[in-house]
Amino acid sequence: MKIAIIGHGNVGGALARSWAAKGHEVLIGAKDSASEKVQKLAALDNIRAHSIEAAAEQAEVILIATPAHIANELAVQLSGAKDKVIIDATNAVMKQPAPHPTLLHAFKAAGFQKVAKCFNTTGFENMANPRYGETAADMFVAGDNAEAKAAAQKLSDSAGFGRCYDFGGDGQVELLEKLALSWINLAIFQKHGRNMAFKVLWR
Ligand SMILES: NC(=O)c1ccc[n+]([C@@H]2O[C@H](COP(=O)([O-])OP(=O)(O)OC[C@H]3O[C@@H](n4cnc5c(N)ncnc54)[C@H](OP(=O)(O)O)[C@@H]3O)[C@@H](O)[C@H]2O)c1
Repeated sequence: MKIAIIGHGNVGGALARSWAAKGHEVLIGAKDSASEKVQKLAALDNIRAHSIEAAAEQAEVILIATPAHIANELAVQLSGAKDKVIIDATNAVMKQPAPHPTLLHAFKAAGFQKVAKCFNTTGFENMANPRYGETAADMFVAGDNAEAKAAAQKLSDSAGFGRCYDFGGDGQVELLEKLALSWINLAIFQKHGRNMAFKVLWR
């Protein structure tokens, strides 16, 4: 898949490395594509650096891993990509893109249809490596658009997660952000550490 990644920090960087290693074509879309941090990523196989607009234009899927509160300005910047699949990995739990509760809601309001929330519920260390011995951490996706959810589920498989559970439609997106907050609570506030992940058990 041709994947644009907007936001090349902890989350964007981990997923860029993981997907590129699996043979996906990763296009980092950055404010400053010549920066040392971006160039370090672009030196890896299957990763190239572009402006935000150029990366989005060439991609089939756009992952957003920036602070959530910039959603309104980012939606304007990406307005040429309204027909593309957008995967929202952000959490607006600390600062919302007012008047919207999440980046997904801001993008939907700006006219993007194919938006799904995924890759937000666990720490970036688990995105780099979701394996726990013989098993793998699970992932979760939410949103109304089936095409966006299917793309996110494929990319979750590529990143090595276990099952990517469908959490429901746009109405469940804020609940998925609360699941992220639950992971943050356990890992950080309750001091269980970041090498911890959610797995659904079955019998
Ligand atoms: N950290 C985690 O474990 C984790 C897990 C799940 C979800 N999340 C969510 O994922 C998002 C990213 O978290 P992170 O930890 O990866 O953050 P981070 O390491 O601080 O990276 C943020 C990225 O966003 C870019 N950015 C900031 N403002 C921008 C703008 N106006 N336009 C374009 N790019 C911009 C930054 O680029 P510059 O450096 O060039 O400014 C940087 O590459 C957040 O919403 C967070 O809540 C984080």
